Amino acid sequence: MQIFLDTAEIDELRAWADTGLIDGVTTNPSLIAKSGRKIDEAIAEICTLILGPVSAEAVATAKDEMIAEGRKLAAIAPNVVIKLPLTPDGLRACRTLTEEGFKVNVTLCFSAAQALLAAKSGAAYISPFIGRLDDAGVDGMALIHDIRAIYDNFAFETEILAASIRTTAHLRDAAIAGADCSTIPTKILDAAYKHALTDSGLKAFLDDWEKTGQSILG
Ligand code: G3P
Repeated sequence: MQIFLDTAEIDELRAWADTGLIDGVTTNPSLIAKSGRKIDEAIAEICTLILGPVSAEAVATAKDEMIAEGRKLAAIAPNVVIKLPLTPDGLRACRTLTEEGFKVNVTLCFSAAQALLAAKSGAAYISPFIGRLDDAGVDGMALIHDIRAIYDNFAFETEILAASIRTTAHLRDAAIAGADCSTIPTKILDAAYKHALTDSGLKAFLDDWEKTGQSILG
């Protein structure tokens, strides 16, 4: 499963870039607002740091304006993926931009029926929001399983990009459910390394090693 970081903070991305774990980045208008930066500058800088797909979201709500914004965002760098909301206009714009050769990430997906329409509109990625469904009292992960089954039934090539990931359990379950990618905040990636038994086991190994008085490097 590909791991994307869900952030527009360049310092966070810089800190993680050398792990080789980051396959791409997703942003949204809220994350750009939080960064305090201009969208074109933020996306350009992110694209120089992370060479995989970087989603930049259009904010227009009418098809023609979405298409114009999408073309402008895509011109920032070759690895920009245009992010569009799952609305009738968004899916029409998705079809046009896809036919022009751009990659589109259809976002704000909350049902399998919506995901089916996005795939039929040529989306390169569909972003189901797991955490927000859980917040609403619905099993978010069940949606990933449903979309996986539908896309496999009909050999859709749209990649499932699990979003609104709030816990390491979400990350694990999205991988089990067959999501192609998960986009996560850096704090979840940080937490994914951690296990109390790793820490206590390492401490015991190092305590025993110290008693030997040896040094591997001499
Ligand atoms: O990028 C969209 C997404 O991952 C949002 O997450 O935590 O705001 O629901 P969240």
